[in-house]
Parts: sequence; structure tokens; C-alpha cells
Amino acid sequence: MVSSINILISVSVLYFLSFNNQVSVVEGSKREAQLYRDLLANYSYLVRPVRNPKKALTVTMKVFIQQVLTVDAKHQMIEVNAWLKYVWTDFRLRWNPLDYENITSVRFYGEDQIWQPDILLYNRYIEELRIQILDF
Ligand SMILES: *[C@@H]1O[C@H](CO)[C@@H](O)[C@H](O)[C@H]1NC(C)=O
Ligand SMILES: *[C@@H]1O[C@H](CO)[C@@H](O)[C@H](O)[C@H]1NC(C)=O
Repeated sequence: MVSSINILISVSVLYFLSFNNQVSVVEGSKREAQLYRDLLANYSYLVRPVRNPKKALTVTMKVFIQQVLTVDAKHQMIEVNAWLKYVWTDFRLRWNPLDYENITSVRFYGEDQIWQPDILLYNRYIEELRIQILDF
């Protein structure tokens, strides 16, 4: 019975924001610092990124199972090593690359910088949550 199985997940979360998937290497640029300042100047990470608060925000989620570590039939639990990938659009985090030395992507770390979806597996069993932000 799949619906009654508790899943123990050690997750590696991939934060993936849908600005632009191009990777540009820009180091220590003043414009990049300015871009972060401008993006976050009037930004609240508590506010959902929707123009109309009555509207839902679509977050797509993918689970990449890397390994099945244990299967405990008695307690109806499996332990897996998985990557979670969330994709959503935050309209506030937009800019014109021409204004910022053609920078097309930025990274954020930490939950108190930008809004992030609060997604939990309903019947999860978490013994130890290891979150790792990985580079693509
Ligand atoms: C932030 O909001 C203030 C007041 O509305 C505005 O003057 C300023 O230009 C905004 N800053 C950015 C970077 O959007
Ligand atoms: C950004 O790209 C535009 C168009 O490709 C180019 O004209 C401009 O020189 C570039 N600017 C920088 C700072 O690389």
C-alpha cells in the first residue's frame, strides 16, 4: 500500500530559480553587488511572489531518487537518498541584463533572502535531515 508507507528522506535540495539558466561567470563586480542590492531593496521574503494575493502560485517539484537505502517492511518505511528540485517564478526578481554588465543569473542562499516554498511530505518520517545546496 503506497499511501501508507512512511518515507524517510535524506534530501539534497536543489534550489532552482527560473530567471535564466545561462551561467555567466562574473567575479566581484560592483554591478553584481548593485544588482543584489536592487533586487532585495524592496523585497520581503515573507510575501508570496504573486501579483494578486488571491491567486495561487505554481511550484513544480521533481524528486530524483538517488538511492534506496533501507526498506523496513515491518514499520512500512523506506529510506531514500533523493534530490528535490523546485521550480517557480518570482516576478520581483527580474532585471535587464544590459543594466548589469549582462549578468543573467544570481544565486541566493538561505531562507531569509528570498521567498521559498514550504513543502513537506505529508507522511514523511525524518530522522535526520541533511540539506545540501548543490552546484549544477
Ligand atoms: C524601493 O522603493 C522605494 C519607495 O517606493 C523606491 O523609491 C525605490 O526606487 C525602490 N528601490 C528599488 C531598487 O526598486
Ligand atoms: C552586453 O551585451 C551587449 C549585447 O551583446 C554588448 O553590446 C555589451 O557590450 C555587453 N556589455 C558588457 C559589459 O559586456
